[in-house]
Amino acid sequence: MQDIFNLKDKVAMVTGGNGGIGKGIAYALASAGSDIVIVELSETKTAETVKDIREKFGVHVLGLVVDIGQEVSIQEGVKKAIDEFGKVNILVNCAGVIIRKMPEGYSVEEWDWILNINLRGAFLCSRAVYPSMKEAGGGKIINIGSMTSLFGLGKVVPYACSKMGILSLTYSLAVAWAKDNIQVNAILPGWIDTPMTVSARRDFPGLDDFVRLQTPAGRWGKPEDFAGVAIFLASHASDFVTADYIKVDGGFAQGGLTPTSVRR
Ligand SMILES: NC(=O)c1ccc[n+]([C@@H]2O[C@H](COP(=O)([O-])OP(=O)(O)OC[C@H]3O[C@@H](n4cnc5c(N)ncnc54)[C@H](O)[C@@H]3O)[C@@H](O)[C@H]2O)c1
Repeated sequence: MQDIFNLKDKVAMVTGGNGGIGKGIAYALASAGSDIVIVELSETKTAETVKDIREKFGVHVLGLVVDIGQEVSIQEGVKKAIDEFGKVNILVNCAGVIIRKMPEGYSVEEWDWILNINLRGAFLCSRAVYPSMKEAGGGKIINIGSMTSLFGLGKVVPYACSKMGILSLTYSLAVAWAKDNIQVNAILPGWIDTPMTVSARRDFPGLDDFVRLQTPAGRWGKPEDFAGVAIFLASHASDFVTADYIKVDGGFAQGGLTPTSVRR
């Protein structure tokens, strides 16, 4: 049987590829043989990641400084990736930002910043790679949502709206581009130990205990926990899976609703 998880000769673009989850996914796709394009804000951090992936996995890696809040920056970045590799087969929309406060405290600028990066940026990146995927006869888009793609959360309203929007974007792009053999799916992380949640633990005392208690697996997720699901959704193994999501949450979305004394 052919190796349906093999990503050799594929090119994967990962936005936020220096962050916790994005880096975990970039390493996983490289381990399955894919060439990698890291799309990020910081040139220095990107250079380190590019070098490390190249040395560890022997694949071709390109680091691009792109602000996915800016349409022109995305278009230039995708052009550079296609000039270098000739195509983009896999897009992981992972870059994301958050501001935590009560809804009445957000300015218009804060709302726009979050929605522009988390939702509009994912749409613009998908639109920018579409012609290349179509020309190649197919492609894979993996959008990173959140538990707030499913539930409300009072202190992150714009973020939660962007992540519900990510599911809608996933479903609608999947329907629109199924004719082009492009599968579009989402991964919904639970509570994952990354730079984004380091600040949450600082802002909310008691969060660490809450996560350990309310996650049936009894721990925070790690970037490496995304490897299997990301390779699955990026490979031929998922060719008839589209317009769907997979939670990587240690059971939080189900078990988190019951106290541990009731659960076990
Ligand atoms: N950590 C969690 O518990 C958790 C839970 C649910 C969802 N998520 C989502 O997972 C994704 C990754 O989050 P993370 O926890 O790894 O956070 P992170 O902060 O470690 O990574 C986010 C990355 O996005 C990059 N980025 C931000 N704005 C950008 C822009 N304008 N252009 C290009 N890159 C930009 C940052 O430089 C950073 O490296 C995000 O979409 C986040 O919302 C995380």
